[in-house]
Amino acid sequence: MDLVDLIVSKCLPRLAPSILSADFARLGEQVLEVQQSGADRIHVDVMDGHFVPNLSMGAPVVQSLRRVTRLPLETHLMISNPDLFLEEFAEAGADSFLVHWEGNNNLHRTVQRARVLGKRVGVAINPATPAAVLEEILPDLDQVLVMTVNPGFGHQRFIDTTLGKIGRVRRMIERINPRCDLEVDGGIEAVTAPRVVEVGANVLVSGSAIFGDSEGVASAMRRLRTAVAGPLPTAG
Ligand code: DX5
Ligand code: ZN
Repeated sequence: MDLVDLIVSKCLPRLAPSILSADFARLGEQVLEVQQSGADRIHVDVMDGHFVPNLSMGAPVVQSLRRVTRLPLETHLMISNPDLFLEEFAEAGADSFLVHWEGNNNLHRTVQRARVLGKRVGVAINPATPAAVLEEILPDLDQVLVMTVNPGFGHQRFIDTTLGKIGRVRRMIERINPRCDLEVDGGIEAVTAPRVVEVGANVLVSGSAIFGDSEGVASAMRRLRTAVAGPLPTAG
């Protein structure tokens, strides 16, 4: 990445490639590719076949990735009882936890447990969950994750009705905890990225649009960054 790319990328929404769509046979290599292309963090989707109808990866993957990248590893826990696994992921080298509001009767406790482990913490909400559920927990969070598809699979179509909610979450963040990140996850590519940024997202998770791009990871990252850059300022 050259200097101009670097400066631009620091002012723009941050990119969090989701390795769910990576080639697992050369995962370390693919993570290094997105790192070199300016990724800000690596998004690790953890699924238990119960909270969502799919299985993915666990703490050993985080442990292996910790050895190959300096980027923050954020774990998106799509699992029924995240409290049981926080310690294991923290020991493996996870930097942050994204835990779901859905199905957690003691969300505040989960958030505090992540804090005690010294990690950043965010709460994720599914497409049908209203923004309002975040109101009381927001002061305790470093980030909110608005799901723009139903969790469980990569390469799904972006759900348009989440745009209004992203705007509502942005206004709530400005009012209650302005330092909180607003991340979105699902169906984010060059067309949907500017739309979510326009309504207030500042961290974009993207899986298939990056790792599934026929021209390669670097070109996909550049395309996403360009899509959210907006018109260049004119001289004079
Ligand atoms: C879906 C996951 C996403 C997934 C996004 O449950 O949380 O992080 O990898 O994939 P794309 O970008 O392909 O929609
Ligand atoms: Zn995710």
